[in-house]
Amino acid sequence: MKTILLERFGLDQLSVQQQPVPALKSGEVRVRTAACGVNPIDWKTCSGGGAAPFIGELPFIPGWELSGTVDAVAEDVTTLKVGDRVLGLLRFPERAGCYAEYVAAPASELARCPDALELIPAGGLALAGLTAWQALFDKGNLQPGQRVLITAAAGGVGHLAVQLAKWQGAYVIATASAHNHDWLQQLGADQCIDYNDGVLADQVQDVDLILDGIGGDSGEASLACLASNGVLVTLPSVTKDQLIAAGDIQAKRVEPLRVTANGKQLAELAQLCAAGTVKLTIAATLPLEDAGKAFADSASGHTRGKIILTV
Ligand SMILES: NC(=O)c1ccc[n+]([C@@H]2O[C@H](COP(=O)([O-])OP(=O)(O)OC[C@H]3O[C@@H](n4cnc5c(N)ncnc54)[C@H](OP(=O)(O)O)[C@@H]3O)[C@@H](O)[C@H]2O)c1
Repeated sequence: MKTILLERFGLDQLSVQQQPVPALKSGEVRVRTAACGVNPIDWKTCSGGGAAPFIGELPFIPGWELSGTVDAVAEDVTTLKVGDRVLGLLRFPERAGCYAEYVAAPASELARCPDALELIPAGGLALAGLTAWQALFDKGNLQPGQRVLITAAAGGVGHLAVQLAKWQGAYVIATASAHNHDWLQQLGADQCIDYNDGVLADQVQDVDLILDGIGGDSGEASLACLASNGVLVTLPSVTKDQLIAAGDIQAKRVEPLRVTANGKQLAELAQLCAAGTVKLTIAATLPLEDAGKAFADSASGHTRGKIILTV
């Protein structure tokens, strides 16, 4: 089967290679991939950072999320059958190998793709969507009427978080470059702030929840926008200790998040997309062979929504 393979760490080390089709273990189904989503963790890991400590020895097939059609089912799987359309975030942060024609996937980590949702965009939903869901609802316990600040709101996680927070009935404040403001308001942001435009805390105060998609010094500075009993959920794991230490000094709660696979939450998300309540914005759809270009685009830091690779 066709794959993208990394034999040495480095973003110029990706190549298109044939590999054996994966065998099935107990609890797994094989998915014939339609599309896989590109996320910052993909290129960070292929550079030797990100999830590299969890993936074992190289070579490595990148990618943690996909959509496709079930092509074979282990004997003990009763929840899915050959021909089902599915999507999923798989095995994160261990290797999942989604940049490939066929993927062996734990059945419990997949959700059925509703008829109203096309497979090609659906391949980009799971990782960013579950991150937004788990940050807002599991870690952040966001309630109707609360004020939430979402930084990096135009990105894969952020633009889904804006819509999920609005769906929950929150007042949504989003940071993004000015050219993204009209679009984010259409998605449900009540207030947009250009992060190039002065000090954030001069413009926003007393929010109940911050979804910090930036981390580092920017994430730390955003703590000044948080109400004393609020919570900041920080996404970039590389700076989580900095944020936790800053929170301790200011007596403010900081929660790191590592997204986890969850077929049940993903099924709910997929239904929201099928109903049009949540819209997944696709920045670019590229063939699998263009994974290197997709990595360069994502690493530029200004993707609007998600980049998708079709297989
Ligand atoms: N811990 C976890 O489990 C987990 C899961 C998912 C993601 N993450 C991490 O969370 C971060 C966001 O992920 P993502 O997939 O949403 O990334 P992304 O799609 O690459 O985010 C790109 C967006 O960031 C915005 N941006 C860049 N600099 C900004 C700034 N200083 N202030 C506000 N917005 C800024 C850009 O908007 P403009 O074009 O308007 O500048 C762009 O739309 C990444 O570091 C990722 O690795 C962690």
